[in-house]
Amino acid sequence: MSTSSDQNVIDAAPTSHVKLAAWVEEVAALTKPDRVYWVDGLAEENDRLCAELVEAGTLVKLTDPNFPNSYAAFSDPKDVARVEERTFICSEKEEDAGFTNNWEDPKIMKERLNGLFDGSMRGRTMYVIPFVMGPLDAEQPAYGVELTDSAYVVTSMRIMAKIGNEVLRKMEAENAFFVPALHSIGAPLEPGQEDVAWPCNEDKWIVHFPEERAIMSYGSGYGGNALLGKKCYSLRIASAMARDEGWLAEHMLILKLTSPQNKSYHIAAAFPSACGKTNLALLDPTIDGWKTETLGDDINWMRIGKDGELRGVNPEYGLFGVAPGTGWSTNPNAMRAITKGNSIFTNVALTDEGGVWWEGMTDEAPAHLTDWLGNDWTPESGTKAAHPNSRFCTPIDQVDMLSQDYYSPNGVKIDAILFGGRRKTTIPLVTEARSWTNGIFMGSTLSSETTAAAAGAVGQVRRDPMAMLPFIGYNAGDYLNHWDQISGKLNPEQMPKIFLVNWFRRTPEGGFAWPGFGDNSRVLKWAVERIEGTADAKETAIGYVPTGEALDLTGLEGFTPADVETAVAVNTDEWLTEVESIEEWYAKFGEALPASLRAELDGLKARLSA
Ligand code: PEP
Ligand code: MN
Ligand code: NA
Repeated sequence: MSTSSDQNVIDAAPTSHVKLAAWVEEVAALTKPDRVYWVDGLAEENDRLCAELVEAGTLVKLTDPNFPNSYAAFSDPKDVARVEERTFICSEKEEDAGFTNNWEDPKIMKERLNGLFDGSMRGRTMYVIPFVMGPLDAEQPAYGVELTDSAYVVTSMRIMAKIGNEVLRKMEAENAFFVPALHSIGAPLEPGQEDVAWPCNEDKWIVHFPEERAIMSYGSGYGGNALLGKKCYSLRIASAMARDEGWLAEHMLILKLTSPQNKSYHIAAAFPSACGKTNLALLDPTIDGWKTETLGDDINWMRIGKDGELRGVNPEYGLFGVAPGTGWSTNPNAMRAITKGNSIFTNVALTDEGGVWWEGMTDEAPAHLTDWLGNDWTPESGTKAAHPNSRFCTPIDQVDMLSQDYYSPNGVKIDAILFGGRRKTTIPLVTEARSWTNGIFMGSTLSSETTAAAAGAVGQVRRDPMAMLPFIGYNAGDYLNHWDQISGKLNPEQMPKIFLVNWFRRTPEGGFAWPGFGDNSRVLKWAVERIEGTADAKETAIGYVPTGEALDLTGLEGFTPADVETAVAVNTDEWLTEVESIEEWYAKFGEALPASLRAELDGLKARLSA
């Protein structure tokens, strides 16, 4: 790669894909970078980009041998999370975006964005990143091309997706459709102007055009705002594709569970950001004879298979996990993957040994750190050393427990779907839905206390349908209707069972009602035994909960069947309040709410007052 020059040199497009070449030329003419660079995806290129980023002060190379070939980045303190108020679904018609999304007329939005992108890459390199989400040997590979002026985005996309020459050559051979994903940090450099370590713009726009399947992101260099293959493509745009094509693009982990009898099950689980998807995806069972394998920790594309079964594929190639709370005692599988190296950390703390640390990595904090803001830190500082939304970005093939089926373009048969949130009260540890429609009702009313994964207040209860609130790329009522429609296409014998879970419930005394982490395997075991028809359950107004004796508590010191009953108790007063809140939530959907879900709510009300 040539070094920075002040002439406006646009390299000839090294592609035979006519549409791609034309788009790159058009964007370069608008954004006016000094250079256009086509990303090949090779290791040498990555080393070179990382070295440049170290030189620029964006990355720090870790020198602790426990973190080989790894880097830490520190963002602008105002660019640390996804920005939902700045995220738009610009469908042609406002009603197609629905009440859960910000909307603007696509023509007006494009005019504004074209104004912002005009000259936005001056003084910088525009990188062309051909990428694919999911297997390159899929029937229809999910191609995208991200144009970005951030080398940090290139190195992170290299972990999260398959990028570069191999993808480009196949895309050309098929003259394939690709999602155009344009990204600029919005920080042009005047000649001679000195750069900062994390350039970005106060003005941020994360914009999706669902009909065109196009993405434009401006002003942020952070994770979900900038790595456009992830939330923007694989959830928001893909959910709109899925609606049109009869499949589901969901915010779910995928976990394979094998019983002592050697029977395997695949569990998909939707939880809002920072509610433990990565922990459940990498869980070590605490019950004897059970084995887990990972397929994905954040995104699940589910299509209907030949036998009318739901089949899930994880389209991602890496983990972009919340670092705090990920530790040697709570998630050793993640720690082993991370410490194999090849990782990029963002907004974590640095140790004096040239490694990284975050709250919860070890039981005891190091005596001295450099915190994510660059300040000296000791355990007495009284502040968090790592930002609560700090991240590790690590290749998924470094996960020891990765299932071989991860590589299968046909995915795996999903046997159970879990919906879960973070609720101190009301929601039992686990409830089995009464039916598929009742399960959709559970998903549609899913709620959670807000976390640091999005900018804004933390700890407020909000409804988060299927944990997709920030990610549904169209009208949320149509989205629920789409779930309802899918059921008609599934083989009734093959339908996954649906469960609502809450690892975060408190006891009346205020402690956690359930130990969580590896012990969640006990809940998964019960779910599997419900599928097999061998476990006991008690019918309640909201669904089936385990009896005190039905959860395997072997080896769980001091936890009794009575404690299970506390964890799964259905408190009628709490549920009457919950039902009022669900009424308010459903009222927002207006006419778009599927009648089947209205009927579910009516049924619940009747059962609660019976
Ligand atoms: C992100 O915040 O950048 C992100 C990828 O979202 P999530 O927290 O859902 O993983
Ligand atoms: Mn997520
Ligand atoms: Na992830």
